[in-house]
Amino acid sequence: MCGIVGYIGGQTAVDILIDGLTQLEYRGYDSAGVAVLGPSGARRVRSLGRVRDLEAALPKRLAGKTGIGHTRWATHGAPSEANAHPHTDATERIFVVHNGIIDNARDLRVELEADGVELTSDTDTEAVAHLIARSGADTLEDAVRQTLHRLSGTYALAVIDIEHPDRIVVARNGSPLIIGVGDKEMFVASDISAVVRHTSQVVHLDDGECATVTASGFRMFSADDARAVAKSATTVDISPDELELGNHSHFMLKEIAEQPQSLERMLSGRLDERFATARLDGLNLDAQALRRFKRVKILGCGSAYYMGQMGAAMIEELARIPADAEPASEFRYRNPIVEPDTLYVAVSQSGETADTAFAVQEVKRKGGTIVGLVNVVGSTIAREVSGGIYLHAGPEVSVASTKANTHMAVGFALMALALGRVRDLSITDGTRIVKALKALPAQIAEITAMPEEIDRAAKLLAEAPSLFFVGRVRGYPTAREGAQKFKEISYRHAEAYQTSELKHGPLALISPELPTVAIVPEDELLDRNVGALHEIGARGGEIVAITNPGVDVPEAKVVLTVPKSEPELDPILLMIPTQLLAYYAALSLGLNIDRPRNLAKSVTVE
Ligand code: AGP
Repeated sequence: MCGIVGYIGGQTAVDILIDGLTQLEYRGYDSAGVAVLGPSGARRVRSLGRVRDLEAALPKRLAGKTGIGHTRWATHGAPSEANAHPHTDATERIFVVHNGIIDNARDLRVELEADGVELTSDTDTEAVAHLIARSGADTLEDAVRQTLHRLSGTYALAVIDIEHPDRIVVARNGSPLIIGVGDKEMFVASDISAVVRHTSQVVHLDDGECATVTASGFRMFSADDARAVAKSATTVDISPDELELGNHSHFMLKEIAEQPQSLERMLSGRLDERFATARLDGLNLDAQALRRFKRVKILGCGSAYYMGQMGAAMIEELARIPADAEPASEFRYRNPIVEPDTLYVAVSQSGETADTAFAVQEVKRKGGTIVGLVNVVGSTIAREVSGGIYLHAGPEVSVASTKANTHMAVGFALMALALGRVRDLSITDGTRIVKALKALPAQIAEITAMPEEIDRAAKLLAEAPSLFFVGRVRGYPTAREGAQKFKEISYRHAEAYQTSELKHGPLALISPELPTVAIVPEDELLDRNVGALHEIGARGGEIVAITNPGVDVPEAKVVLTVPKSEPELDPILLMIPTQLLAYYAALSLGLNIDRPRNLAKSVTVE
């Protein structure tokens, strides 16, 4: 979604803002803008399109050491220069950048117009700028607080004021915001990636908190009553190099290739070979607590939900506890029954997905126990849950998630192992899974080393306007995620079905024009899977089979083989070729792989 950057210090603000906005572009964008307070007042520049379009629109000299910037993903009002942030009031004194959605914006706009204010955009944010400017409060902080009391909805706000060029005032409610602490300079951002080149010290704002940020420090206070809030900085463990492409052509390919190393890092110290279990101290649940749970319910969105389905299957198989996954976006709206003996698990790469964060709050509000599988350390969801497993995948820039998904699946495998070993999973079976987990990084490296075959299959699939991904039982979440990845970046219609369901309807669509990607693990369902593929072949459908060595899929036009793992973990390895298939299909179609249309990396609004 939208991205916020702010700077105050000794450097030329616009340079830092543009650099930060470029780092944030992956979150989604359609326009961008900056406002800088300089010796001759304020200067605002906005532009439709990418940050480089904004850069081209900047004047040669744009002095000023305090500024705010924004990349926008349109919610209220179409993408246009007039709707781009920063927004300002009628006298151009106050400048505001905003992430989130102000629910009562329409009423506020009507009220402002009735008072004679001429609105210049269609946005909810513009109302905020006018309200701050018209508040009549003595300080900028009080003006912001008074305005916040008028708002309902979600926001991360950064505000500058010509009359107070020595500060940026920020506020948060439901949208992420951090302060980066430098040496005689301070940063504000919606995402760590915008500040990581300048500092590793960050402060996370919580909902209901505001801060005054000056070049020499920050002061936090509550939006409710201006009471001081004590907060200190934490160190983030991301090197700026991790955000660089290096010699890769796209972040997606880089992130697929990184998986063997990132998984080694994730697994390190978490496997207990002696007791054949997983060490998950971060869950904050001891063996007795883990035994107490009678069900597991996993909540996530999009690919994270599919990984939740994969995880639920592992938990049921290894721990024999009923487990299921549900889209957090649905859960939050259906007055869910929250049971005390269910372990709720929120799964999210960014840790900022609004739907998932809300679902977490709903579980907590009803007294449930919720832990997280989250990648971004210190993110909203990571801080809301009572414990969890950090995914340690490193930064993921490509909008289409790959390595974070794999880490989620492995995180669930660890959880299933830990839950199983305090129940009936034998030490022999535990050892089998521990060994298989240890082997995963090297096995994934084997798969990522076979791009040529995958490229050939991808080209075949890219020619079709529509395709199926099929799998059954353990393989079905792999098929769903494969279809998701394919449609996200190739814009081809890709639909996932259980292989077993084909004959109940979808078979009607099979023809030479509609190819199928079939997930065919070598497991107890192999014969049935191969049988269903005969039915596709008999109707002229082309098949790309993703399977294990030695499996014969006579109907398949292309067979991609991945190393064999244990049956419970096979879906993880079978997923890796689907990531590459999507990548190479989009590449052959000449599409914008890392920044697909209409999508944002982190969906921080409803
Ligand atoms: C994945 O490729 C998608 N871009 C999307 O489905 C994503 O997984 C979803 O929005 C959830 O994001 P999260 O993991 O950051 O919560």
